[in-house]
Amino acid sequence: MRNLFALCLCLAGLQATAATFQDLQEQYKAQARQDNPAFGGFSSARGKSFYEAKRTRSSGKQSGCFDCHTADPTQPGKTHANKTIDPMAVSANPKRFTDLKKSEKWFRRNCTDLLGRACTAQEKGDFIEFLAHYK
Ligand code: HEC
Repeated sequence: MRNLFALCLCLAGLQATAATFQDLQEQYKAQARQDNPAFGGFSSARGKSFYEAKRTRSSGKQSGCFDCHTADPTQPGKTHANKTIDPMAVSANPKRFTDLKKSEKWFRRNCTDLLGRACTAQEKGDFIEFLAHYK
């Protein structure tokens, strides 16, 4: 009985660490369908435009996702405090978008910062779609 309990714990742990970007996309898909019954899937092209869009912060300064994550997401980025950020493209950094909690934390922070609101599930899914297939 005790062994069975240990096995269950181990399997639960595996599930928590073995997520893939596809797992995250499934979650965002479910949310996007709830938000919009006419949801038609994620688009890498829309994700690209979102990534490259110039936004005006409340301070009036222009910025965008590319600002810290660089115009070429296979390259390491930089925070405004000059700390290195690992590449965003999954091809260059397979750890990207494998932890829903982490992705949610940073979407919340960066979307609030740049858009003044939370990103929608559609926007998050498009963003991941773009970076998951970027070569
Ligand atoms: C001011 C700098 C900055 C800007 C601008 C920025 N980010 Fe980030 N972002 C970070 C940092 C720092 C991290 C965390 C370090 C890491 O994951 O390597 C991060 C991580 C992320 C992650 C986590 C990815 C994962 O591994 O799950 C997502 C999602 C994200 N950012 C989305 C965005 C989006 C969307 C935008 C544009 C609306 C954006 N970021 C703009 C600094 C920035």
